[in-house]
Amino acid sequence: MADSLDTTVGKPDYTALTFPAAPAHRPYVILNMVESLDGRATIEGNERGLGSTVDQGLMRELRVHADVVVNGASTLRASGTSPRLGNTALEAIRLERGKSRAPYGAVLSQSGDLPLDRMFFTSPEFQAYVYLSSTADEERRAALEATGRGVVVVPDGDEVRSMLAHMRTELDASLALVEGGPTLNGALLEAGFVDEVFVTLGPVLVGGRDPLTIIHQQRERSTDGTRHLELLHAHANPDTNEVYLRYRLVPGSSPA
Ligand SMILES: NC(=O)c1ccc[n+]([C@@H]2O[C@H](COP(=O)([O-])OP(=O)(O)OC[C@H]3O[C@@H](n4cnc5c(N)ncnc54)[C@H](OP(=O)(O)O)[C@@H]3O)[C@@H](O)[C@H]2O)c1
Repeated sequence: MADSLDTTVGKPDYTALTFPAAPAHRPYVILNMVESLDGRATIEGNERGLGSTVDQGLMRELRVHADVVVNGASTLRASGTSPRLGNTALEAIRLERGKSRAPYGAVLSQSGDLPLDRMFFTSPEFQAYVYLSSTADEERRAALEATGRGVVVVPDGDEVRSMLAHMRTELDASLALVEGGPTLNGALLEAGFVDEVFVTLGPVLVGGRDPLTIIHQQRERSTDGTRHLELLHAHANPDTNEVYLRYRLVPGSSPA
């Protein structure tokens, strides 16, 4: 457990959080996910129904701190993604702190098969980048570039490291907020690039076979793949029956 564990009852204030400095070669990386009491990251193919409006508000409060909000391509295809805060009071906090109104949006894709009509590509309210694996075909790359969004080709097999390095050096990003999905989370965790995990535990049991949990990897888990975390805060909200948790990866439990 952390030296000063913060526990309260009610809705926490995520705008007041602070984060450690970023390493030189990548942003500090935090994951934010909602899951059911039985550990599921989706109901009927997306996360709707797992978290309350309070949980969604906390997601926006975390964006106050972020320089870039990152998603995997399947989440963009399933739910649409956007880094907007959607709240003028939260935007004002960013502006007061010398940040842009919204963080950069970012999506990582291997295929380049992305829905170009979604807000991620069309909104003038934020800037966004697609990190595209070098294995994607030229035609898809050209279509993505034609949207006007930045397209950064990242080497096959080194996508996540290369994406984070670009964010740090070219976007001057200190804090990357990763909002899933589980496959992107799994790739980041495997590469040792996850610093913290924020989880909202929703008061639902979803059931069924082969759950998609908040970390998903194609390979079988290895015995040395277990990561250990320390609890930084736990807030129980009797109004929503949700629990809001913040964990930090224990230094040394992660290869990078
Ligand atoms: N509970 C929650 O808080 C939460 C949050 C977010 C999403 N979700 C749900 O999670 C589901 C989607 O999750 P998912 O795990 O299937 O997908 P995902 O992580 O959103 O996206 C996976 C895709 O991202 C790209 N990608 C990921 N890692 C990569 C790497 N190392 N190199 C290159 N490309 C990489 C690939 O894109 P291509 O497919 O383009 O090749 C891959 O297929 C949706 O149902 C969504 O609603 C839940």
